[in-house]
Amino acid sequence: MTADTKQGQHWLADSYSEHAHFVPALGQPVLELLRPSPGERILDLACGDGVLTEKIAASGAAVVGVDAAPDMVNAAGKRGLDARVMDGLALQFKHEFDAVFSNAALHWMKSDPDAVIAGVARALKPGGRFVAEMGGHGCIASIAVAIVAVMARYGVDAQRLIPWYFPTVDDYRARLERQGFMVDYIELIPRPTPLPTDMTGWLEVFAATFFSRLPEQQRSAARDEVIELLRPVLCDERGRWTADYMRLRFRAHLPA
Ligand code: BEZ
Repeated sequence: MTADTKQGQHWLADSYSEHAHFVPALGQPVLELLRPSPGERILDLACGDGVLTEKIAASGAAVVGVDAAPDMVNAAGKRGLDARVMDGLALQFKHEFDAVFSNAALHWMKSDPDAVIAGVARALKPGGRFVAEMGGHGCIASIAVAIVAVMARYGVDAQRLIPWYFPTVDDYRARLERQGFMVDYIELIPRPTPLPTDMTGWLEVFAATFFSRLPEQQRSAARDEVIELLRPVLCDERGRWTADYMRLRFRAHLPA
């Protein structure tokens, strides 16, 4: 679930597991779309701490997990998984997998989505499938707007720093087709997502890119301003936070 460690974003397995364990927990629909079978060889692209990789392995498939964040790969390795540090923008595999799976990670690989898809196509055997879910168009729109507005008060152009790529159905379908995939299914799905802790935890795990640009002594004040802007729209009367997630889910395959 984690990708690029650049952009001031540092992925730590303990913090991820405390504030973001909902990410793999909500991965069941995309796992069902994958339908792994015993004997298949599957690549989990940006496997994070391996929670879903382990579920794929439980189907009897042989799974390799890759992630750009060493701490997450270490956590996945502790589950007994074959997990390797590798950048999703530069996958090193050639025609060896029956399927490539990815959950909640492709939106972090913003700098070159076509290179990611090309690497997936290269990693697959002829006829292989690419099954994934990522943030889609409109994902966390209110959170992004609040961050940009607050960072402007601190003299930072946060629009320029946005690390996420949230494509439309048409955009992503066209990219898949350009790399030779046939798209079996693709859908943009609104999924308001209750947060297990609160917005502070979410910002800490997912929005470090922005706050790391500020001097240390300004960071918590800026975070609090973002939280107060968002409270009326994302927090209910009992203090429960829900993030405005949109998912883009798809299944595509290469010609046999
Ligand atoms: C997502 O999984 O959709 C997501 C996570 C963090 C930031 C933005 C989107």
